[in-house]
Amino acid sequence: MAPRKLAAGNWKMNGDLAALDQIDAMAEAVKGASCDVLICPPALLIPAMIAKGVVAVGGQDCHAEASGAHTGDISGQMLRDAGATHVILGHSERRADHHETDETVRAKALAAHRAGLIAIICLGETGDQRDGGHTLQVIAAQLAGSVPEGATAANTVIAYEPVWAIGTGRTPTIPQIAEVHARLRADLSDRLSDGAEVSLLYGGSVKGANAAEIFAIPHVDGALVGGASLKAADFLPIVAAL
Ligand code: G3H
Repeated sequence: MAPRKLAAGNWKMNGDLAALDQIDAMAEAVKGASCDVLICPPALLIPAMIAKGVVAVGGQDCHAEASGAHTGDISGQMLRDAGATHVILGHSERRADHHETDETVRAKALAAHRAGLIAIICLGETGDQRDGGHTLQVIAAQLAGSVPEGATAANTVIAYEPVWAIGTGRTPTIPQIAEVHARLRADLSDRLSDGAEVSLLYGGSVKGANAAEIFAIPHVDGALVGGASLKAADFLPIVAAL
């Protein structure tokens, strides 16, 4: 089976109840979309967004434990109970701001799987790593370290997000994206029996104007979109291009 196509929006720490109007504005286009459409808003907006019934809804992080004394955290089980289907894990902003390591991300992904969530595991090189010629080595190590035992195409999505491309308006060249996605596909196929079916997303300054050329790259099965997912007018052209 071919990997599922997924247009995923990460609202990060943006949005409020009024912003849910943007979800209403997506309704018609999402019905006709030829891909899955997911938005990961701040956790407090998840129930209201799910109530719209327009898009699949996910979290932006979860704890590695199902419950317990972890003030301020949310578990995968809680996200699932709220009706979320996915959770973003290991985003570079969390790796940087919260010192998350591959080991942390792997433990969180295991917890997400136990809760019945699809884990969107993020990885990507910094600008210095790219400039130093270490991209493939970094990506391969993050993939090996972050993807847990028991990962399958049904419960795991991988998002390649070069750190230097996030929110900067800069994107890698087509051959650079192609090289990384080919490597991810090869490594996943070596490791998982259904690795050829795992959806591979590209993320980092995706917009309507560059989506079609990015989606035409082999082994790019969708996008993880930040800024351009906040407004229906910016996100829907990306959905339409997939
Ligand atoms: O999770 C999304 C990525 O960080 C991409 O963000 O589309 O604003 O560059 P961006």
